[in-house]
Amino acid sequence: MNIKEINKGIHMLSTSIDEMLFEGMWELPHGVSINSFIVKGEKTAIIDGIIGWDGLPETLYESLGKIDINPEKIDYVIVNHMEPDHAGWLENFKKINKDFTILTTLKGSQMIEPFYGNSVNVQVVKEGDTIDLGGGKTLTFHPAPNVHWPETMMTYETSSKTLFTCDMFGAFGSLKDHYFDDEMTEEEVKLSENEAERYFSNVLTTFSMMVEKAIKKTKEFDLKVIAPGHGPIYRSNPQKIIEDYEKYCQFAKGYGKNEVAIVWGSMYGMTQKAVVFATEILNKEGIKVHSIQMPNDSESEMVSSVFKSAGIILATPTYEYKMYPPVAHALDELGRKRINNKEVFRFGSYGWSGGAEKELAQIVENHKMKWNFIESVEFNGQAKEEDLSKIESGIKQLIKNMKSKLIK
Ligand SMILES: Cc1cc2nc3c(=O)[nH]c(=O)nc-3n(C[C@H](O)[C@H](O)[C@H](O)COP(=O)(O)O)c2cc1C
Ligand SMILES: [Fe+2]
Ligand SMILES: [Fe+2]
Repeated sequence: MNIKEINKGIHMLSTSIDEMLFEGMWELPHGVSINSFIVKGEKTAIIDGIIGWDGLPETLYESLGKIDINPEKIDYVIVNHMEPDHAGWLENFKKINKDFTILTTLKGSQMIEPFYGNSVNVQVVKEGDTIDLGGGKTLTFHPAPNVHWPETMMTYETSSKTLFTCDMFGAFGSLKDHYFDDEMTEEEVKLSENEAERYFSNVLTTFSMMVEKAIKKTKEFDLKVIAPGHGPIYRSNPQKIIEDYEKYCQFAKGYGKNEVAIVWGSMYGMTQKAVVFATEILNKEGIKVHSIQMPNDSESEMVSSVFKSAGIILATPTYEYKMYPPVAHALDELGRKRINNKEVFRFGSYGWSGGAEKELAQIVENHKMKWNFIESVEFNGQAKEEDLSKIESGIKQLIKNMKSKLIK
């Protein structure tokens, strides 16, 4: 666990985890950080916690010792979010501290007992409520419901103008050497942006309307520092992550970069050959391609690539009168994530009567995705010259359609 001073009396304690599937399903090739914060006035508060995994709460207590905080004497636990990646340690903490108060939203207060048992003091906070910790440190509370659970809130420390945002403004990616935006190398910034896109698309995109509301709320603060529960601390330019998050909300509405995500699957290579052909055309047109083979590639990467691309190609053969199941699953996942209004082109091989097309329409309708499709190209067995030329025309049309959706 690493300890970083954000301001006098305000510390981040951060641990990075590599070997887990986030939410039990998202691969983390670059890990994820879980950040917890201590604000010390005359009284001491801990904001956001840590996963309650074996050894981690104890590591947190040890680390607190290094900054002269006795965990047994912590007065307040600010639960911005009840999800166990932040509040999972509470059960353990209750064993070592017999006299602390949890501050959380009304909804949060109702969720404590089912998740972590009762026997703790809980004080409900509402928008703008304040706790004076003494020593010049004051915290104010700001509910941000459904970012990402219904009980979520943000906490603001007035003297340092720090907003503790928990999942909001979060990013995947371990924090190893550099913890603040101004410490990061150009390469680290790039990776972190990519990891923020992936985090948003995997975790928050379903709630992007509520994220937009939280962005609006964020803009009302006099802000110096944004301190999220995952990812780096933004202190040199907190506006940057706000603008990035605004952009991500647009990605969820169908806008995207001048890039194409090809989500494809193939049993015997018939559809795959057409994917190779499509990739060559897109390369010639100077468009970056994300080639995602289902089920071989990670679902996390699939969702992220589609999310940020202005153009999507779905390449799937027919399988038992329907879509090839791994691609159908991918499309269904994108629908659940409410990644809507994308510009899309589909092609694929069939053996006798086809059927993929019908299921495609069903899934898109089922999730009300409002994807804008160019006429699909289906070919029997291998794609012939005429099929390839139809695919080429489809791609040219896709590039045209993408123009109205481009953002950087
Ligand atoms: C398990 C399986 C089920 C299939 N089901 C159908 C089907 O219901 N309708 C159809 O037209 N073709 C069906 N096919 C044929 C494939 O769509 C065809 O072989 C196609 O060329 C596969 O493309 P690929 O090599 O890209 O996977 C099926 C093939 C397999 C292996
Ligand atoms: Fe969460
Ligand atoms: Fe989280």
